[in-house]
Amino acid sequence: MAGNWKMNKTREEAMFFSNKLTQDLAGMNFQIVLCPPFVFLQNVAEILTGTKLHLGAQNCYYERSGAFTGEVSPLMLKEIGVEYVIVGHSERRHIFGETDEMINKKVKAILDNGMKPVICVGETKEERERGLTFCVVESQTRQALFGLSKDNVEKVVIAYEPVWAIGTGIVAKPYQAQEVHRFIRKLLEQLYDEELAQKIPILYGGSIKPDNFFGLMIQPDIDGGLVGGASLDDQFIELAKIISWLV
Ligand code: PGA
Repeated sequence: MAGNWKMNKTREEAMFFSNKLTQDLAGMNFQIVLCPPFVFLQNVAEILTGTKLHLGAQNCYYERSGAFTGEVSPLMLKEIGVEYVIVGHSERRHIFGETDEMINKKVKAILDNGMKPVICVGETKEERERGLTFCVVESQTRQALFGLSKDNVEKVVIAYEPVWAIGTGIVAKPYQAQEVHRFIRKLLEQLYDEELAQKIPILYGGSIKPDNFFGLMIQPDIDGGLVGGASLDDQFIELAKIISWLV
């Protein structure tokens, strides 16, 4: 389970909340990743050291260093202790114009620096209504993974996040999410093999809340959640409890 804090919290709030989570989630026996804003990564890293929680970033650039004003390199993240980096989030694709080509470069740079990319894919409302869901998800997944060795593919995490469900309160119905997760799993089988496809975690994201998470998590191809709004407060602890019943 990963919490994407997006552009939220002050430094003090970030430190207070991550400290609380290290205590409240200490007994959980599955991977939990916190993704605070860049400027708080160092503070949160210090709090998470020696605990069971993992550190993630929300984005990065793909070059190692250079004249890229305002960007952060994978090497810089690695140095702080970041283990996971979210890439291709729909807000990055739609607000900041990230292309599939850029996302593929980021995925490679993250892997080259020994971290794990959490690759977000998902269709817009309009694409779903036009019957393009599988087509969009296939294209985004193929392009994000393009040129990766099998060894590297093993380290990626995929997050299916229908754009119409992100921050809208409209969660995908469990069967709707499951059918896309199944589709992604089959695509991974086609591109690599069955064993590898089983190993890659496929998370669902989009308006996850404590009252809808169980129905999603019991689907056979949903391996976890990428949580936005509900990762900012105690709902995140409730969500962790739901997973803990199932693992
Ligand atoms: P949400 O965001 O849970 O607030 O819908 C999910 C995400 O964008 O990763």
